[in-house]
Amino acid sequence: EFRIEDFKREMLDGIREKVGDKQVVCGVSGGVDSTVLAVLLKEAGVNVRAIFVDHGLMRLDEGDEVRNNFHRMGVEIETVDCADLFLGKLAGVADPEEKRKIIGGLFIDVFWDTVGNAELLAQGTLYPDVIESASNAKSKASKIKTHHNRVDRILELQAQGKVLEPLAELFKDEVRELGTSLGIPADILNRHPFPGPGLAVRCPGDITEKKLRIIRECDHIFITRLKDHGWYDKVWQAYAGLIPVKTVGVKGDERSYEWAISLRAVISEDAMTADWVELPPALLRETSNRILNEVDGINRVLYDISTKPPASIEWE
Ligand code: XMP
Repeated sequence: EFRIEDFKREMLDGIREKVGDKQVVCGVSGGVDSTVLAVLLKEAGVNVRAIFVDHGLMRLDEGDEVRNNFHRMGVEIETVDCADLFLGKLAGVADPEEKRKIIGGLFIDVFWDTVGNAELLAQGTLYPDVIESASNAKSKASKIKTHHNRVDRILELQAQGKVLEPLAELFKDEVRELGTSLGIPADILNRHPFPGPGLAVRCPGDITEKKLRIIRECDHIFITRLKDHGWYDKVWQAYAGLIPVKTVGVKGDERSYEWAISLRAVISEDAMTADWVELPPALLRETSNRILNEVDGINRVLYDISTKPPASIEWE
């Protein structure tokens, strides 16, 4: 049995021992893992600066929500606005692994540039993240994807003993339990997971402002519908992802030729496997109607009925 209080004490001791009086930089995204990590580091009383990198791949109004949540917890964070940097480097890049590597590399650059005297990088890596990125020495094909916490630069830092990953043995439900015992409000702990590379992994092909705008608007409609219908807390994760394939439709009296959006809602224990959720038809209908009426550039809404495996939760 997982004894959270003992575990927390051990963890805090372990952190203090490893950090000593070194300067730690900790990236926060607003997600459960990095939030628990930041609060844990604060509780440990070590010298830490928490950095929120706004990479331009966040959801609608996400930056404000994240800042507000940390404010509620009394944890100081610094926002670094670098949408231009990220979107600039990503322009024209369509390959999923290449996108992930660019984003992961830029994250570290920004952390290191912002906290010039940083000696340790703290990351909210969980156990499933470690497994999914573990590359089998014999075969590159066995590597599923490069988690943003696992890019080459970080592996280098890791070899130098400069990476702190106190959550690396935990599953998501254990992190939530730890968060509760640290006094983090339930609505923050029950936020759906959101990947570090953000909307990039829900935007197949190259990333453009137009695509991001469409994904943000559709996602916002879907998530607010889920909340209004009491389904948000019943699903592990839900989102809208773009299918940048044009199909023919009719809008008003005119032919339209536009992209499709895919809605995905899954339940999962630990993100290693997942099943799609049988959402009520009325909720799906309302979401679809609103998207088709309100979002410019979309004429088709699809619901993703793929289990993981063989699909993954995200698109890339
Ligand atoms: P997949 O798509 O691999 O996603 O089935 C499993 C879970 O992990 C999240 N995810 C990530 N989280 N950085 C993160 O912090 C990443 O690079 C990343 N990739 C996927 C995903 O949202 C899902 O909850």
